[in-house]
Amino acid sequence: MKPAHHRPIYQRRRQDLMCFMRDGIAIVPTAPHQPRNGDVLFPFRPDSDFYYLTHFPEPEAVAVLAPGRPEGEFLLFCRERNARHETWDGRRHGTEGARLEYGADQSFAIGELDARMPALLQNRDRVFVNMGRYADFDSDLMRWVSEVRGHQRTGVHAPGEFVHLGHLLHEMRVIKKKDEQKLMRNAARLTTAAHRRAMRASAPGRYEYQVQAELECEFRLGGSQWPAYPSIVAGGENACILHYTDNNCVLQSGDLLLIDAGAELDCYAADVTRTFPVNGTFSDPQRAVYEVVLAAQKAAIDAVKPEQPLCRYHEAAVAALTDGLIDLGLLRGERHELIETGACRRFYMHRTGHWLGMDVHDVGDYKIDNQWRLLEPGMVLTVEPGLYIKPAADIDPKWHNIGIRIEDDILVTRAGNENLTADAPREIADIEKWMAGA
Ligand code: GLY
Ligand code: MN
Ligand code: MN
Repeated sequence: MKPAHHRPIYQRRRQDLMCFMRDGIAIVPTAPHQPRNGDVLFPFRPDSDFYYLTHFPEPEAVAVLAPGRPEGEFLLFCRERNARHETWDGRRHGTEGARLEYGADQSFAIGELDARMPALLQNRDRVFVNMGRYADFDSDLMRWVSEVRGHQRTGVHAPGEFVHLGHLLHEMRVIKKKDEQKLMRNAARLTTAAHRRAMRASAPGRYEYQVQAELECEFRLGGSQWPAYPSIVAGGENACILHYTDNNCVLQSGDLLLIDAGAELDCYAADVTRTFPVNGTFSDPQRAVYEVVLAAQKAAIDAVKPEQPLCRYHEAAVAALTDGLIDLGLLRGERHELIETGACRRFYMHRTGHWLGMDVHDVGDYKIDNQWRLLEPGMVLTVEPGLYIKPAADIDPKWHNIGIRIEDDILVTRAGNENLTADAPREIADIEKWMAGA
């Protein structure tokens, strides 16, 4: 049950959004509850936009924001209380809980949506919705709008404009206020503790999924509902598969283990990668490549500060990786040409990071008017350079199948940045010391 003291945060978000909307109306459904098989459903995870505005955790709910409406501006449609259903499937807040605990001005049973929405849409010029997200909702909306059109002879008018809700809402979500920063710090703390545990739990002969179990056990013990995305636990050559999630191989002495995993806490994500030797000691080639990736990560993190264009940290990583690859003999040629042509893409085929928040690849524009936007305090992004060296005839076998990524979650602050996930060891000496139990 939501503590009442949280309510003002969500109320302020709705107010802020309604200021931007002026006389429009916003309709925000939560996510559909997906069937798994038969009468079994996947665990329910609310829609992030819906949850950002309401904190209402149940499926089958729709929020409506109707600024200036005398009977109330925040309406919540949700499931009614039902003793029989609650005996089988769990507690519900019901329409009364929606008002008393979640601050709705008015609440209605979800079954009343079709009957009430056309009237709510009457005489509103603009409708703010996430079009194209949920097909069933899109077709419901069109039906409601055409019903209003059918009544135009009575003097009402139907909405003329549909606006992507994300234009407004995702700009709000891209700047994390103090309360969100606190949640993200907690998700980060839990995640780094899990990575530390996973490092110590790794050993030759263990399976990737066993290390995954240690990691996710720590998430759950700390109160995380589930991982923010499928955990990647990739030993040896599996690390060169960027989104490897089979996690079913046995760990070999002499290999590295790449773990990319983050906890989700009250719908906020962490996203952390560490790469370390299964047997606790880096080999010389592994060490050499690791140092290159670490230097690139540090250079990129240094470029995360207010007023810096968002492309700068990726460029810093690319420059540092290119330098390192030249030093290792893996790239040959003129430095500036190699950087200009993106030669490192052979070993580094993804970008250096993304927004992080409620979604692991969080919402928010990266460019504004086709220009990389400037960083601002309160933004959170990942910094995650890597190198992935697949076997090839022109590459010395000592480098083959080395895959390394180092990923941290960085909050832009007024003074520069704060690494929210620094508690997971990432210096070679610190990793070896931690794995030795010291
Ligand atoms: N774990 C997904 C990513 O790093 O983007
Ligand atoms: Mn990431
Ligand atoms: Mn990641």
